This record gives sequence, C-alpha cells and structure tokens, in this order.
Amino acid sequence: MTAPFLEVVDVYKSYFLNGKRIDVLRGVNVRIEQGELVSLIGASGSGKSTFLHVAGTLDAPAAGVMRFKGQSVFDMNDAQVAEFRNTKIGFVFQSHFLLPEFTAAENVAMPALIHRRERRATMTAARELLERVGLGHRADHKPGELSGGESQRVALARALIMKPDLLLADEPTGNLDPSTGEGIHALLREVNKDLGITAVVVTHNEVLARSLPRRLRLKDGQVLDADLS
Ligand SMILES: Nc1ncnc2c1ncn2[C@@H]1O[C@H](COP(=O)(O)OP(=O)(O)O)[C@@H](O)[C@H]1O
Ligand SMILES: [Mg+2]
Repeated sequence: MTAPFLEVVDVYKSYFLNGKRIDVLRGVNVRIEQGELVSLIGASGSGKSTFLHVAGTLDAPAAGVMRFKGQSVFDMNDAQVAEFRNTKIGFVFQSHFLLPEFTAAENVAMPALIHRRERRATMTAARELLERVGLGHRADHKPGELSGGESQRVALARALIMKPDLLLADEPTGNLDPSTGEGIHALLREVNKDLGITAVVVTHNEVLARSLPRRLRLKDGQVLDADLS
C-alpha cells in the first residue's frame, strides 16, 4: 500500500501572548491524497493560517506528526526541512510580496535563481508560467504596473517555478474583488488539473470554497470535512 500524500496526525499548536496561552490547533487530523484540491474554511481567528504554516513547515507544532508520502517531516533536521519546503511546497499569501524593482518574469524566476538553477532555462520557465496564468504579455512589467489580480497571478506563477508537489494558499483572493477572486480560483483548478499539483486553499469566501472539489473546516481547533460538520 502506498503512503498517503499528506498526513497530519494529532497536531497541537498554541501561542503565548502576555503570559496567556491560546490553544489554536487542538488535535488536528487530516489526510490529503495526491492530486486533491481542497479549500479550508473557518471563522477569522480559528487557526487557518496557523494550520497552513505548520503544514508548510514554516512553523513547528507543539506536538503531532506530519508525514509527506510516508516521510515524517518534523523528524528531519533544519537543513532538510528547509530543502523540503523550498523544493516541494509552493506558497501564495493574501499579499503578493512581489519585489518592486524586478519584472514579473524575474519575480517568478527568483526562487529558482536563489536555488542556483541555470538562469536562461529558469527565465524561459518563468515566461512559460506567466503564459499559463494568462500574463505572458506582462512578463517585462514591474509589479507597480500590475493590478491586484495580475499581481496574484504572478505570485501563483512564482509559487510554481520550483515544480512543487504541494501548493498552499492563504486567502489568495482576500484582497481581490469577487470576480477577480473567481478568476484566481479558476486558475487554481486549472493548475491542479493540468500540472497535477495538490493544493490547499484557505478562504473565508464560502462561494469560492464551493468551487473546489473538497472542503475542510477549521473549528474548535480541529479540522473536519466541511460538508459533515
Ligand atoms: N504569533 C502569534 N502570537 C500570538 N497569537 C497568535 C499568533 N498568530 C496567531 N495568533 C492567534 O491565534 C489564533 C489563530 O490565528 P490564525 O491562525 O491567524 O487564524 P485565521 O487565519 O483562521 O484567521 C488567533 O486567535 C490569533 O490571534
Ligand atoms: Mg489567516
């Protein structure tokens, strides 16, 4: 039997603020199979970003296990976790975090260039990804010349340049108007289907959440299938 793509087992995470403990994740169990496209919904402050940060290894849990294709991620050393994160996971956040002094193509290429990938091939791949997200004609523009929706498309292309297995998006449409947001979700569906990338997309927009095949809900520190909760 092959191991699940992503398995989160009994994950706990608390924050300490002014001497007070906030228990955010209280025994999260979730399993995501390869190729799934999942939305994660939940009230503001319910812990969606916390979960995504832990799943993306940006933050360590207080307790629990995460297995990626059977490999226990939090048993790796810091350098191994960093290499895992940089090569296997793509992130998109609510803000695009594009570097203003670089063009769209350079921004997309940046993670691979930092990883010392060959420049010419990387720039070609960056332009191809911009074509894929419908922005081939904006490749040489700087972020200041792009709209919010276009900037998020560039951010998505940048998240794909390392050919990640898993895409984690934290309210990628949070700053966009509804129709631009739907465009981003359409693109996520396309990327999931065409590139076979597994993705978890946090949104508090129930309409957008319903546009994805599976919905999870974070509630009371736990993750449940939304249609059952
Ligand atoms: N770095 C932090 N320090 C203290 N509390 C935090 C920190 N990050 C998040 N929290 C708290 O943890 C809870 C969950 O936050 P978050 O995961 O950002 O929720 P969501 O993304 O669902 O809105 C909130 O009560 C928030 O205030
Ligand atoms: Mg959040």
